[in-house]
Amino acid sequence: VEVAWDASAAEKGSFDHFMMKEIYEQPQAVRQTLAGRVDPAAGSVDLSGAGLSPDRLRSFERIQIVACGTAWHAGLVGRRLIEAWARLPVQVDVASEFRYGEPLVDGRTLTVAISQSGETADTLAAVREARRLGSPVLGIVNVEGSSLAREADWVLTTKAGPEVAVPSTKAYLTQVVALHLLALALSRVERPEEGRMLLQLPQRIEQTLAMEPRVRELARQLAGQSHLFYIGRGLDYAVAMEGALKLKEISYIHAEAYAAGELKHGTLALIEPGRTVVALATQEALRTKTVGNMVEVKARGGRVVAVTPDRPDARKEVEVAADALLALPDAPEGLLPVLAAVPLQMLAYFAAVERGCDVDRPRNLAKSVTVE
Ligand code: G6P
Repeated sequence: VEVAWDASAAEKGSFDHFMMKEIYEQPQAVRQTLAGRVDPAAGSVDLSGAGLSPDRLRSFERIQIVACGTAWHAGLVGRRLIEAWARLPVQVDVASEFRYGEPLVDGRTLTVAISQSGETADTLAAVREARRLGSPVLGIVNVEGSSLAREADWVLTTKAGPEVAVPSTKAYLTQVVALHLLALALSRVERPEEGRMLLQLPQRIEQTLAMEPRVRELARQLAGQSHLFYIGRGLDYAVAMEGALKLKEISYIHAEAYAAGELKHGTLALIEPGRTVVALATQEALRTKTVGNMVEVKARGGRVVAVTPDRPDARKEVEVAADALLALPDAPEGLLPVLAAVPLQMLAYFAAVERGCDVDRPRNLAKSVTVE
């Protein structure tokens, strides 16, 4: 009898897959990424470790973000934050489009390249193109000593630690945290509340991990579906895109994310009885609008899974239009879109496990795409 011995089993500890282990490492990864960069008393952000002085940072007039895959989705969150907090115009491009476009960057533009590995061919090419055009580059990178870390003018490291699973989880969350820090550092006005809020994140993620049994149960119900839609507005839309990518890359269920307001411009035609839509409604100011979209889905026989904070007002409004609820811990509103990523990672994970997929090594995909 041949005994199969999995060399990596020990490193997975009590987890069946690296992906779940890495999901559970997120509080620690985020804690490490915040460490020494936020003053707990003043709530101020200090990126001098990346070599970036406040004056230099605030000299830029525009921000250009380039990245691929999950890192690009982190960039979409970053755009919202930088526009809201620093009031600077931000363009986000996938690196493969940026490098062959005719990018409008110059010395007044800070190009921000986001990459877990720091070795993605398209991202590195985009960095070279930006620098050729005179735009300095800040690399947000997880692997120290990687090509991106060497080629960028400044480096803000995410401290996720080694990420083994192909589907990125903890690297994504730490990229999102790094972008919160960058947005605060770029802001010309002090934002102590936001700075202090970030320090709550590790503990809030821990609370969010307790959603696991509920997410598993929902994932089992959804695993037989062949299409799934994710909707949201603002930051929720950016997180919805990452949720859809996670699901498709590991469970092979076709998934798409839409800005909730775009539903009626096409996607509504695909809603038929039983079709599931995951609706993110974490932001109070946008909630009524998103609930309106949920009602439209239900009116066509669709099934709605709503992601909303565990607060009476939110639950009351959302429950009317939802078939199932994924209730996030009641946390400061600014943290909720970040927290929402966690149950979406788990939903993808359990759907993939239920379908017998190779979660850590999905077909046709590589951890790092170093060729074009
Ligand atoms: C590959 C990985 C993705 C990752 C993307 C960018 O496609 O499978 O998980 O988001 O590359 O990788 P990077 O290392 O640049 O973040």
